[in-house]
Amino acid sequence: FSGALVDSYNRRHDYLRISLTERCNLRCFYCMPEEGVQLSPTEKLLTDEEILRLAKLFVQSGVTKIRLTGGEPTKHAFLQHGCAAGGLNDLRPYGLQSIAMTSNGLALHRRLPEFVDNGLTHLNLSLDTLDPFKFEFMTKRPGLDAVLRTLKIALESPRLQKIKLNVVIVKGLNDSEVLDFVEITKDKPISVRFIEFMPFTGNKWDKFKMVPSSDLFKLISEKHAGVERLSDEANDTARSWKIPGYQGQFGFISSMSDHFCSTCNRLRITSDGQIKVCLFDAKEVSLRDLMRKGASDSEILRTIGQAVGGKEEKHLHMEDIDVVSNRPMILIGPAILNH
Ligand code: GTP
Ligand code: 5AD
Ligand code: SF4
Repeated sequence: FSGALVDSYNRRHDYLRISLTERCNLRCFYCMPEEGVQLSPTEKLLTDEEILRLAKLFVQSGVTKIRLTGGEPTKHAFLQHGCAAGGLNDLRPYGLQSIAMTSNGLALHRRLPEFVDNGLTHLNLSLDTLDPFKFEFMTKRPGLDAVLRTLKIALESPRLQKIKLNVVIVKGLNDSEVLDFVEITKDKPISVRFIEFMPFTGNKWDKFKMVPSSDLFKLISEKHAGVERLSDEANDTARSWKIPGYQGQFGFISSMSDHFCSTCNRLRITSDGQIKVCLFDAKEVSLRDLMRKGASDSEILRTIGQAVGGKEEKHLHMEDIDVVSNRPMILIGPAILNH
């Protein structure tokens, strides 16, 4: 394990999240500011070769899991070629074990088998409601059927090792559906994760829209006696539970009420090539500019090491987070916050 990926709190970063694109085919209000985002010109975005160069460098330094995010990662051609031979899949001999993706599932059902053939092992699908009208209200687009079709195909893909559903809970909108989501785990071997709504630039977060995980747990355990606590995987962002006899499990990502910074093992690369060592830290360093200046691998690794070395112990108290100087979630790579 290279020292470059160990921070001053001795956290080993073996999980890299690569945002492939800033584009998305949905407009979830908690992720995308109402006025939209200014998309970077194409020449500012990493090329496939640059993505693969960085991925290889990180894997050679100790990363075992890469998660592809967006925006919506299926909006990017990298997925067609980048995972296949000559791409991420070829990094396995260097130590890469998992290739994961977080997607909204809207345009995935036709292409998922191809991605799995090309090495995808883990899929997280974002789905906040099972009601088609609410779906359209929350995402500004119709599409619940398409996402459910993707889920069905994912469940029929034996080579996918893990399928998770990400449900961001917003008070008064979808908190009434929590028990319905738990019911999905009755006959499906999936993990449903309820996520506390987090503040990002332009997403109109306020604490009254956030439902603490403890409230949801109370609701679920009142309905289901004997819910079982499961042991979490190392560095898991979720605390997981199971209804006895159900095939799947459910969990809580409590970034707001109970952060998990002390076990954070994640680093991120934005689609414009910045390394971001914490979801809530606006400080970024451009690996793209370094590569384009002709830097060697060891120079790039030194810069990565400096960024990781400067990672804070934990993110600020939520009320103090400066959302104004951070990016909107869509430009970070929507996914779990580790702090
Ligand atoms: P796995 O644990 O690999 O299955 O994925 P994940 O849960 O880390 O990632 P996913 O993309 O599914 O994101 C789920 C939720 O976790 C989203 O709300 C993310 O914003 C949040 N999340 C992802 N990474 C971080 C992080 O580094 N810090 C915090 N606090 N939340 C994160
Ligand atoms: N709070 C919590 N989760 C969020 N996501 C996007 N924006 C937020 C937010 N403000 C989630 C998406 C997706 C995951 C990658 O990040 O639902 O599942
Ligand atoms: Fe798109 Fe996901 Fe953001 Fe929704 S949460 S706008 S699906 S990137």
